[in-house]
Amino acid sequence: MFAQLREDLTSVRERDPAARSTWEVLTCYPGIHALMFHRLAHRAWNRRWFWLGRFISHLSRFLTGIEIHPGARIGRRVFIDHGMGVVIGETAEIGDDCTIYQAVTLGGTSLYRGTKRHPTLGRGVVVGAGAKVLGGFTVGDGAKIGSNAVVVKPVPAGATAVGNPARILDPERDSARAQKAEQMGFSAYGVTRDMDDPLSKALHGLLDHAVETDRRLQCLMDRLEAAGITLDAAVEKADSFDASRLSKMVD
Ligand SMILES: CC(C)(COP(=O)(O)OP(=O)(O)OC[C@H]1O[C@@H](n2cnc3c(N)ncnc32)[C@H](O)[C@@H]1OP(=O)(O)O)[C@@H](O)C(=O)NCCC(=O)NCCS
Repeated sequence: MFAQLREDLTSVRERDPAARSTWEVLTCYPGIHALMFHRLAHRAWNRRWFWLGRFISHLSRFLTGIEIHPGARIGRRVFIDHGMGVVIGETAEIGDDCTIYQAVTLGGTSLYRGTKRHPTLGRGVVVGAGAKVLGGFTVGDGAKIGSNAVVVKPVPAGATAVGNPARILDPERDSARAQKAEQMGFSAYGVTRDMDDPLSKALHGLLDHAVETDRRLQCLMDRLEAAGITLDAAVEKADSFDASRLSKMVD
């Protein structure tokens, strides 16, 4: 138990630039206190002393502002920074070396007792302040969850998820789309921060289609003119369809 505590203290000093001494971490970090209480509560829970587990957890919540269900499994060197408002559900699992900031919820969306309702965090996951991770899925090793994100589906290892509902940041995919957009002379082609949002996807799909239709019409008109066919002025007149501007509005 003391070895684990020492490990916790060291990991906080390594990860929090504001920590000035081990004594300060031991006495003034509610995340450390909550983990100490949780270890007791979890032991009681595993011995089927359910009320005692709940009571220790409740006491810990009162003293630290961090609510960890005694059934939750928490790995080593987990750092709950600030901690106020953190809620960790019964079937949540947290891997070694995770960092969790204040007001994070590792919550459930189903009410079925006995099922895995809460998320599993892999090793070294960082969950930003105010983020909600809801459901019995896995957030892969080394993933980052942005502050205030609402995550409702699995996050691959090493990925960063931000927003509500959370989307995975994918710099490579974004730059590939940007290149394609440049080739088309138009920036809508999926270059959006909200590609997981179905409405955004649909609007970008329509914009892409409109741009492509315009391009084909222009092609036909050029061919007709080249063949000596003069077009009616009404056909010639272009409207003010500004796909780039519309695309930015949708982003
Ligand atoms: C998600 C996070 C880990 C991303 O860090 P990063 O990999 O360095 O990413 P960047 O800062 O380069 O941002 C990448 C993009 O995501 C956006 N982004 C970053 N964090 C975001 C968030 N929380 N919500 C929405 N969008 C976010 C950025 O605006 C940027 O968008 P752009 O490419 O359109 O400019 C970080 O922003 C974060 O939220 N960390 C939690 C910190 C925290 O809770 N601290 C509490 C201390 S008390």
